[in-house]
Amino acid sequence: MKKNKTVYVGMSADLIHPGHLNIIKKARELGDVIIGLLTDEAIASYKRMPHMTFDQRREVIENIKGVSQVVPQKTLDYVFNLEKIKPDYVLHGDDWKEGVQQKTRQRVIDTLAQWGGTLIEIPYTKGISSTRLHAAMKEVGTTPEVRLKSLRRMLRVKPLIRIIDIHNGLSGLIVENTCIDTPEGRREFDGMWGSSLADATAKGKPDIEAVDVTARITTLNEVLEVTTKPIVYDGDTGGRPEHFVFTVKTLERLGISAIIIEDKVGLKKNSLLGTDAGQIQDSIENFCHKIQIGKRAQATDDFMIIARIESLILEQGMDDAITRAKAYIEAGADGIMIHSRQKNPDEIFEFCRLYNQFTDRRPLVVVPTSYNQVTEDELADNGVNIVIYANHLLRSAYPSMLETARAILTHRCSAECDARMLPIKAILGLIPGGK
Ligand code: SPV
Ligand code: MG
Repeated sequence: MKKNKTVYVGMSADLIHPGHLNIIKKARELGDVIIGLLTDEAIASYKRMPHMTFDQRREVIENIKGVSQVVPQKTLDYVFNLEKIKPDYVLHGDDWKEGVQQKTRQRVIDTLAQWGGTLIEIPYTKGISSTRLHAAMKEVGTTPEVRLKSLRRMLRVKPLIRIIDIHNGLSGLIVENTCIDTPEGRREFDGMWGSSLADATAKGKPDIEAVDVTARITTLNEVLEVTTKPIVYDGDTGGRPEHFVFTVKTLERLGISAIIIEDKVGLKKNSLLGTDAGQIQDSIENFCHKIQIGKRAQATDDFMIIARIESLILEQGMDDAITRAKAYIEAGADGIMIHSRQKNPDEIFEFCRLYNQFTDRRPLVVVPTSYNQVTEDELADNGVNIVIYANHLLRSAYPSMLETARAILTHRCSAECDARMLPIKAILGLIPGGK
């Protein structure tokens, strides 16, 4: 009996639209359709995380008329699956001739040539695309539950999560919408850092827990209202354990993904002030107790309490930092943040080396403010899971405002500084719905 031809179609199949159905229909005319369904890791390697999980997407695609088989495609690159399946055809929309998938396309052509297979490209379906659907979904917004869970989902599939500071709705919009296109795909921030330093400074107050939790949550609410990305909240010391319980419950209800609390007691000051500020580290026992009662306060398993270790900041040594990491994980911490105020990342990398040997290792967070030469690739190679650019948006806004204020005082007229400001027309149109 003559064997049917086989057609391989790689896709994410996250937001299924008529463009996908058109491709499957065309593929069916050529033979048995095998869908190479990109895993969450493969998708996250070159664009935003899928809305649906791999299993959900598989369930949808398996039930579409004309699909014979669904296999996972673990990378954006097709070669591994193609060499295994040796299909007669690969079918794809003609939209990948340019941009991030160009190289992938060429490798498909070269691989198929080994057994005389053919790449068939069909015209891109006009008027609909996943990008457009994604933008429309962003406009609708998200729910607290979906947002809260998104950080854990990212941690499962992304080698390094990139987070930056927020201090109001506008800074949240910058994190939400800023992206650049690179040869490896679209690059953007994965989430937001509810920095105590940025929030307090924006309110004209010192970073000493003087801005109370209610005020901090007002800032978060502003940001939550206009964004969809996950938020990691800087919880300072977490306050008294009895109060920490309520902070955890509130944040979880709002859809915040994680709180990071630092192991200090008394009047907290900013870590980058180091030992000069007379800061006191909490005892391991007390801090473990705080973690434990925080974990017990959670209504779901999704929220994360991340323990921040100040041993290197306070010059207590590497052994102390590692001992604390072990104890905090045992107490139930869902992750560890290790902070440093050195100019180079040596002590952070030494911590990473020891930490990576833990059998119950949890996600590791770093804040490279003082060792700012370190690259994201170096952090990822050392096992770091989340990098926080903790104060960079606020620090860049301030000098610009100061310069404008000075220019007006100098010239007693605003024309001189007009050219480096956002034009009035642009600011009126900046926020959708303003016009
Ligand atoms: C913050 O952003 O408030 C932090 C990080 O806690 S640091 O300022 O480096 O202490
Ligand atoms: Mg802080």
